[in-house]
Order: sequence, then C-alpha cells, then structure tokens
Amino acid sequence: MTERTPPQLSERTRKIEPTAIRYMYSLAEAQGGDLVRLEIGEPDFDTPGHIIDHAAEAAHGGATHYTSNAGAIEFREAVAEKSARDHGLDVDPENVVAVAGASEAILLVFLATTDFGDEIVLPTPAWPQYDMQIGFAGAETVEVPLSPEDDFALDADAVIEAINDDTGCVVVNSPSNPTGRIYEPEPVRAVAEAAADHGTYVLLDEVYSGLDFEERGRSLASELDTGNVGLINACSKEHAMTGWRLGWLVGPDPLIDAAIKLHPGTTASPSSVSQHAGVAALTGTQEPIEEMYEAFRERRDYVHDRIESMPVVSAPYTQGSFYAFLDVRELEGTCGEIAERLLADYEVVTVPGGGLGSGGEGFLRLSFANSLDRLELGLDRIERMVRDEQA
Ligand SMILES: Cc1ncc(COP(=O)(O)O)c(C=O)c1O
Repeated sequence: MTERTPPQLSERTRKIEPTAIRYMYSLAEAQGGDLVRLEIGEPDFDTPGHIIDHAAEAAHGGATHYTSNAGAIEFREAVAEKSARDHGLDVDPENVVAVAGASEAILLVFLATTDFGDEIVLPTPAWPQYDMQIGFAGAETVEVPLSPEDDFALDADAVIEAINDDTGCVVVNSPSNPTGRIYEPEPVRAVAEAAADHGTYVLLDEVYSGLDFEERGRSLASELDTGNVGLINACSKEHAMTGWRLGWLVGPDPLIDAAIKLHPGTTASPSSVSQHAGVAALTGTQEPIEEMYEAFRERRDYVHDRIESMPVVSAPYTQGSFYAFLDVRELEGTCGEIAERLLADYEVVTVPGGGLGSGGEGFLRLSFANSLDRLELGLDRIERMVRDEQA
C-alpha cells in the first residue's frame, strides 16, 4: 500500500486550543491522588427522581420520535409557564425554541446573527466556549475586559464602544460564569439600546438564573423592550440536568424563525425524552430544586467566609452561579502558574482566570459544586498555600 500523509483537518479545528478547564482537568487526571476538584462546572446533585420518572413514562408512551424543529409544544408551553412564574416574563410559546443545552442556543444565535468576518463582543472573563463557538461561526471575538476594581460589573461604556456596524452580536452573561456577578438592569439596557441602534442582537445568557442569591426573581430581559434580545436558559444547572442536554431560546420573531431554519443543520431538535423531562422539571414540584438551591447558598456563604478570613487573597461576593473568583494577584507568578502550583503541591484543582479571557488574569475560579466537607478540605489547602507563600 502506498504511504499517504493523513488527510488535512480544517484550520478551524487546528486553531482550537484546549480550554483552561480541560487543561487543568488533564493535569489533574495525570497527577491522581486525593485531589479536591474545584474546577467542575456542573451540579454535584443527580436529577430529581420525579423528572426521571416522567421522562421514562413519556418514552414508554411513545415519545421516542423527532419533535418539530421548534421543539415539542408541551415543552415550549412549560418554558412560558416558568418564565412567567420565576422570571417575570410574558413569553409566547411560539417564541421559544427547544435546544440541546444552552450551548446549542449560543451556536444558533451566533450563526443567525453573524456573517463570516463579523465581530462578536464578549465581556471577559467569560465561559471559554463562547470564544470557541464564535470561531465556529467564522466570526471574530472582540474582548471587553471587565474591571476587578469594580467587581466585574458590566462596563456599559466599554461594551458600547466596542460595538460597530460589523458587530453581529453582543454577549451578556448574568449571573456570570466565572465572576458570580449579577448585572444591574441599567448598563444592560444601555448596551441593548446601543446594539439596537447598530441593528445588532444581544445574546443574554441566564443559565445560572436559578442560582440567583440576590433573589431578584426577574430576568434582565424583563427590563428590555429593544426587540433585539435572544434570551437563553437551560435545565442544566438549576435542575441538575447537564446530561439531558436541554435548554431554550426565547426571542423576537426574526431570531426565532432563523433558529428554526438553522436547526435541521445542527441537531433538528433536542431529544424528545429530554423535552418531556423538561416539562416535569419546569412545571412539576420545585421542592428538590429549592433544596439544591439552599445547599448552594450555604456553600456560597461558607466559601466566602473562609476566603474573607485568609490573608492576601479575596473574592468578589458571588451574587449568583456556583463559582467564587479568587483574586491571587498578590501571589507570585501568573494565575496559570499559581493554579499549577496549587495542584502539584497542595492537591486542589482550580481554573486559572487568564484562560477565560484577558479580563480574568490574576484570578482562580473555584466551583462550589462540591460537598461542604470537600470544600472545607480544599479551602484548608488553599489557605495553607496562601500562608506558606505570603511574602
Ligand atoms: C455561562 C454558560 N452558558 C452556557 C453554558 C452551557 O450550558 P449547557 O450545559 O446547558 O449547554 C454553560 C455551562 O457551563 C455556562 O457556564
């Protein structure tokens, strides 16, 4: 047989670097031992039983076929019910598309709103998959680093400055992964208006809205009437359903029509069984969800109490999400080096903020999707490192 060089992979693929989260995960796997894993971005709870039962029943009842590209009407109605109940939003089920996790909604919005070479404005630090998906859409990321001195509040002026006629979309993520910040309505409104003036959409990602410790009980979308907002959410975090791959997009008619048009090219629709699980999650008893919420709140309080009692380091108070964003700028080296030292010498796995965009340099993301016992051990170890290295 003739020797052939392997076929060429696309530049798109070759350009992808492992995310900081993946990188730390691989280092941790290679190291092994009794590591405290604080890099994880998913609830440590299993999906509540009533949701699983409802899905199983639906599957036995024949819900094993494709649904429409918009999703099953029962699920879209459930989204409308939840949006009114928990988010202060009046949503028409016709303006909902069911998607395979918030991740798919993000891709559909990027594909729907940008042409090759267009720009997408991304305040950072941010969840790294945004940047990856911007690449999939053939667009360019325009980073707007947020200021730690302002606890990573949304800097409307800086975001607006980055918007121009080549901007396809502006990303706003609140509660934020990784900073835990919930944005005030005013800067979000200013950004949405400036985007509307440029004929540009806003992708408002509220996947952590179920972990809003400020209990505002409203979506930021309820404060906006600019007609250019694609709101995404998912069952993943609030309902401990990451593996079901189920989320939704709510938006104005043109954006929803575009997402439905694009959908046959991605997944066509999320799993029909998952959509039935979603109906139970959104409209059934909320008791297990409230218990998980309370557990996360207790951990949030514990983690921040511990950080406050440490010398040298600090963290902006987590208003929502299950992350604390630890300021390690007083320690020696970059946050990547600090994360690697913390892993190698103290057996705690974190995510260096510099891998989440330039706005995250000097910070470590700690997830409190872990038991209080493990958090205690992890924070003991972090404290030991900080005290050992204190100048
Ligand atoms: C900010 C943010 N948006 C979207 C997602 C993706 O959520 P899903 O698992 O529903 O695709 C994540 C997951 O970590 C996230 O942190």
